[in-house]
Amino acid sequence: IPVEPFDLVIFGATGDLARRKILPGLFRRYCSGQMPEDARILGAARSEMDTAGFRQMVAEAVAEFGGGRHCEDGTLEQFLEIVDYEAVDAMGDGGWEALKGHLRGGFVRAFYFSVAPSLFGALAERLRSFGLADDDSRVVVEKPFGHDLESAKALNATLRQHFAEDQIYRIDHYLGKETVQNLMAVRFGNMLFEPLWNAQYVDHIQITVAETVDVGGRGGYYDKSGAMRDMVQNHLMQLLCLIAMEPPARFEPDSVRDEKLKVIRALDPVDYHHIVRGQYAADDHQPGYRVHVENPRSTTESFVAMKCHISNWRWAGTPFYLRTGKKLRGRTSEIAVVFKDAPHSIFDSESGRHRNVLSIRLQPNEGMTLDVTIKEPGPGGMRLVDVPLDMSFAEALGPEVEEVPDAYERLIMDVIRGNQTLFMRGDEVEAAWAWTDPIIAGWQSRGEVPKPYDAGTAGPEDALMLMHRDGRRWREIRV
Ligand code: BG6
Repeated sequence: IPVEPFDLVIFGATGDLARRKILPGLFRRYCSGQMPEDARILGAARSEMDTAGFRQMVAEAVAEFGGGRHCEDGTLEQFLEIVDYEAVDAMGDGGWEALKGHLRGGFVRAFYFSVAPSLFGALAERLRSFGLADDDSRVVVEKPFGHDLESAKALNATLRQHFAEDQIYRIDHYLGKETVQNLMAVRFGNMLFEPLWNAQYVDHIQITVAETVDVGGRGGYYDKSGAMRDMVQNHLMQLLCLIAMEPPARFEPDSVRDEKLKVIRALDPVDYHHIVRGQYAADDHQPGYRVHVENPRSTTESFVAMKCHISNWRWAGTPFYLRTGKKLRGRTSEIAVVFKDAPHSIFDSESGRHRNVLSIRLQPNEGMTLDVTIKEPGPGGMRLVDVPLDMSFAEALGPEVEEVPDAYERLIMDVIRGNQTLFMRGDEVEAAWAWTDPIIAGWQSRGEVPKPYDAGTAGPEDALMLMHRDGRRWREIRV
């Protein structure tokens, strides 16, 4: 179903995110028929460039980062017709009147700030003072949303000087991932899981976001952030919220966000014995983290694993283990809900220990697996084995889902629809920083140095120990 006609202005339109994600994503939505003919996309950036030059850049971005299976020959040319460009000075007056000249009355109007957060204030102010934005306009902002609680509060205050909370769309692209949304469908659309979804039946929950990439090329940003700020404060936190929250009354923005906020606020401070930081080391074939970030004494972590607790009735006593890192063995992101043992085994002890595990795979090969214990077939007596009830969404739902839309495509269309459910509210972001800040401050005050780990592994040994100590194991990171 096509969305309403709109004018979408992308600030930072010549930047990396626009080229890799936003522009190719918009093109794919165009191909799929979701974008009405009278939609307009306006690129804005500092570079002096004319519309022809920008269209050329968009065409190159699409060639490099992909159209989709609905994109037929000739569609790109049609798409480029709805794309324009205006050079704009974010910190000055240049270009704003010209940009305004492109905007039409009576259409949805959205401004995407694909720029450094230090420019958010200047852009927001000029959108108002030059009369480009009104009380119905929407602004979209990207992470990093602050560096700590104080800077996040300052960013929120700056944006709120010019826009109301229901006009501000803070992107965490993990919320746009198909399986992340599916998590809510699985939890709240089925009778089967929710009664067991609590400390009485769940032994623990693991959330892993493992990456094989290094930080090469992004060293300047990354070395000031580290895995805690780059991944845990936002992406892993959002996954944790969706897995742990109470059922919202409705699938509606504030209902969902209220419940997520309660989870963050119920998180205990993390004991420093329950956190392991790592940094990938060099080996014979490739340089390590410190070379990539050009900082030979860097103590920033490229890996973090931790045990957290949520102090509420549902989860008291059930640990949540989180882990993420670069340069690991495989690119696997999954959430695993590990259920407790059956209260009493009627089988002899040789049948071993068996547990139900529900694992939700975010990437690659999105899907869900439920490990169920059954009798091993054959005449050998009552021997038990765990078999996965495996559902790959692509296989189960057929060709219709062969092409899962990229997170950005989904989220940008939600901006146009005016649906904030999958965007972070200001108080949520602040609460997440309030939990993160003391952890980072603790590392700094103790002068903690991350443990080196070899590229292509599951991270430092200590991360394995974090679980072993509790008589548990991490799930395998598949290659
Ligand atoms: C970004 C982080 O937000 O998410 C990156 O800044 C990380 O460091 C990326 O690589 C991971 O996203 P995805 O969608 O590839 O899992």
